[in-house]
Amino acid sequence: MAIRTIVLEGDEILRKKCRDVEKFDGKLAALLDDMWETLYKSKGVGLAGPQVGILRRVTVIDVGDQGDGPVELVNPVIVRRSGSETKSEGCLSSPGEWGLVERPTKVKVKAQDRNGKEFVIEGRGLLARALCHEIDHLSGILFKDRAIRMLDPDEA
Ligand code: CO
Repeated sequence: MAIRTIVLEGDEILRKKCRDVEKFDGKLAALLDDMWETLYKSKGVGLAGPQVGILRRVTVIDVGDQGDGPVELVNPVIVRRSGSETKSEGCLSSPGEWGLVERPTKVKVKAQDRNGKEFVIEGRGLLARALCHEIDHLSGILFKDRAIRMLDPDEA
């Protein structure tokens, strides 16, 4: 495993649309393992492919004790969303910056695991927010695009 460099806001790669993963091979497993290591090292909640320079639909999420454990999603698609909640949000690609973003309180996501097996996951609260944030990354959308306003450092 290896720590990958996190791409920062301003890099055009974060604005590109990702392609679906088609090969569920050792290279994909190595990428996901590296993404986990990179996420935990940077103490983030989630990390998406483009943030490590890979334009494929992959993301890893761990909301800690606010979820049911680590979530690894390949080719994720939001199939249902409900409710609304406006809370502060940040991104490993925009260190030290926080903004208020409206997100659904609950989402249902269809995805595949690293072996290509399909599954469905439902997330509430922070997990719903993280799922929306990371899946946005796969379409080149950053949280700032959706922020109602950015927060001053003393508000965040
Ligand atoms: Co992000």
